[in-house]
This record gives sequence, C-alpha cells and structure tokens, in this order.
Amino acid sequence: MANKSLAKPACETCVLVTGGAGYIGSHACVELLLAGYQVVVIDDLSNSSSVALDRVREITGCDGGQLIFVEGSILDRALLDRVFAESPIDAVMHFAGFKAVEESTRKPLEYYRNNVAGTVALCEAAREFNVKNIVFSSSATVYGTPESVPMSEAFPKGIPTNPYGQTKSMIEQILFDLCASDPEYNIVVLRYFNPIGAHASGLIGEDPKGIPNNLVPFVAQVAVGKRERVGVFGDSYPTPDGTGVRDYIHVVDLARGHVKALDWMGGKCGTNDAPADACSVAGAPSPDGSRRGVGVFNLGTGKGSSVLEVIHAYEQACGKAIPYEVLPMRAGDIAVSFASCEKARKELGWSAEYDLLRMCQDSWRWQSHNPDGYASW
Ligand code: WQD
Repeated sequence: MANKSLAKPACETCVLVTGGAGYIGSHACVELLLAGYQVVVIDDLSNSSSVALDRVREITGCDGGQLIFVEGSILDRALLDRVFAESPIDAVMHFAGFKAVEESTRKPLEYYRNNVAGTVALCEAAREFNVKNIVFSSSATVYGTPESVPMSEAFPKGIPTNPYGQTKSMIEQILFDLCASDPEYNIVVLRYFNPIGAHASGLIGEDPKGIPNNLVPFVAQVAVGKRERVGVFGDSYPTPDGTGVRDYIHVVDLARGHVKALDWMGGKCGTNDAPADACSVAGAPSPDGSRRGVGVFNLGTGKGSSVLEVIHAYEQACGKAIPYEVLPMRAGDIAVSFASCEKARKELGWSAEYDLLRMCQDSWRWQSHNPDGYASW
C-alpha cells in the first residue's frame, strides 16, 4: 500500500513525535501544535519528564485531543504497533535517543541498542502501517573533523569520535538505504549544530541530569549558583580568542525548522527568496503532491561563537559575573564548527531568527524560574 500523503492541511496531519518530552522534542511539539498538527508523543521518560508535556499544553492551549502522550520505549515493538493502530499517524518525527557523548564511550552497547536498534524497530512498525514520511534528528557530529568551514551538506560524512556520533551516522545510513530500497519513502535528515536556549515563556527548557556535559547548561547552573565556575576546555585553539567556536542555535528556531521540513515534505515550497523551482533541487514530487526521496539539511545560524563569547553573552543576560577557569582541551573536541545554512534557506524557506544574546536570555529565564528543572515543581 502507498505511503500516507502529506499533501493536506496541517490540521488533518498526525505526527508521531518520539522523544517528545525531551529538550528538543518538547519545543518541536509546541511548534507543531501551533502550526495546527495533531501530535502523538512516545517517550520512555528516561531522560525527560512528563511535566514538559503539561507545559507544552499550557503554552499552546492544546488539550489531550490534539496532544496524546504514550509512555514507553521505541524498542517496544508491541507498543509501537498499538500506537500506530490507534492513531492515524501520517509522519514520524524521530528525536528519541541517548545523547551524552562521554557516557556513550562508557556504555556503547546501550547507545547502539537504544539509538540504532530503536530506530530499526520504529521504522519496521511505521512500514507495517504504511508510514514512510520520516524526519530524523541528526547532528553535525556526522561531519567528523571538517576540512573547512562553513560545513555544507555536500561535505562527505566524516568519522564521529564517539559511539553517540556513530549512532547518528548509522541511523542516517539506515534511512538512506530505506529510501534507496523503496521509492515511496519521503525522509528529511536534519543535522543540528549546537541547540541552546529555551521557549520564551520560561516553561520548557533543557533539564540535564547530573553534571551537564554541554557548555550552556553548565554556564546556566553557574549563573544560578549551583556550580562554582565554568571550566573552559582549552584556550589555544586557532580561533580569535583561543577557545572553541560553535554554531549555537536557538531551540525554538530549530523546532521551527522541523515544521518547515514537514511542510516541504508535503510539497510546499519555502518563501524566503526561494527561486520558484527551489523545491525541485532535492527530492521529486509524487502524484499526490508529497515529496519523495531523502533531503539532508543543516540547521544552524551560519555564525560561530567562542566559549568566551558565550560566557560574556550569558553574563549580559543574567546580569551577573560568571567565574571561569581555563582547563586542558577536552578529548575529541574540534576547534571550529559552523554551518552553511543556504540549503535550508533556499529549499525549506527556513532560517534562524534569534541571536546569541536572545538564546542566553531565554536560557536564563528557564533556568532562573526552574533552578532544579522539572523537579522544581
Ligand atoms: C561547546 C564548546 C567545548 C563544556 C556536543 C556533541 C554534539 C551535540 C551537541 C548533542 C566546545 C566547550 C563545553 C564545558 C567548555 N550533541 N566547553 N566547557 O561538543 O560542540 O557538541 O553537543 O546532543 O554531537 O558533540 O557541544 O556544548 O559540549 O561544547 O569549554 O563545560 O564549549 O570545548 O568548544 P559540542 P558542547
């Protein structure tokens, strides 16, 4: 039977969001609901809280009818079958996965099982119900150590330095192979740069368990008084101030990129100065108007910021000094990473709106209102 068509109004389209209670997934749920989509979330709450979904309802004013939550794992095939049988799912937005780089080096089997085997189970269940429209949450880590910046989708994939990155790269390959095996597939792979910030309401945001691995959650905990100082990993990189440079992107911009991707998959062109034939660049429309094939897009801002620039922007946002000390470089880190965002702009009609200060202001609002994350409530 044919893949479900996405060439219909958003309000008639039902999206299964795996990992929808997590940091990026919850922001994607907000934007999907605001755009009129029906959302079913499956999440095992292993690194997230169902309170996030209560907040999503609060932000959007959507009730249990437009946002359904099913607690469970994507490794549970029987549960997946039940979810697909009970809801008229048209597309899958796949965020569920473990994401801590260092932990993945200690627990590779857990990462390969949860991320890779979980994706295989999800795709098998989706295929069983003729759902072949998939948006995947990938990462710029698949580029490995890039030869130059900005990093373009045309760059060959590199070798990620840790099992977490390998799982993202492997899942991409599984999706590429699915597309090659069956012309009905309509897949978008979104390669995120460094998502930070929080929803402007301060109601949802990043809630890391234990000591944060990533820069901005760590800075936020120093700002709120939970940690003494930030450790800056190296100040002798070949960058203007010697600290690592990354392309930080507001999580709300990122979430909106997902909605644009879904629109694009349904055959709608972008509008940001996109040439009239922009949609034909990647993927071919099918008779029902939906696109077919695979589209790969970077989601970043195209602008790099150093660790010190982030710390100073956060100081401005929270009105306090953020103490820091320089530590040795962290193994596996690269000096500079930032995206070329032209492809997403031209084809999806999407580009990031918010600057670094706004990202820090929104992060601070979330952190200061919820010093212990969702456990504060
Ligand atoms: C950013 C910069 C650090 C912490 C990782 C994953 C990637 C993606 C996002 C997500 C670097 C420096 C950091 C600290 C520091 N995965 N830093 N002190 O490493 O670019 O990307 O997270 O799920 O796949 O690799 O992000 O925030 O860890 O680091 O100086 O305490 O901040 O060296 O230059 P990264 P990050």
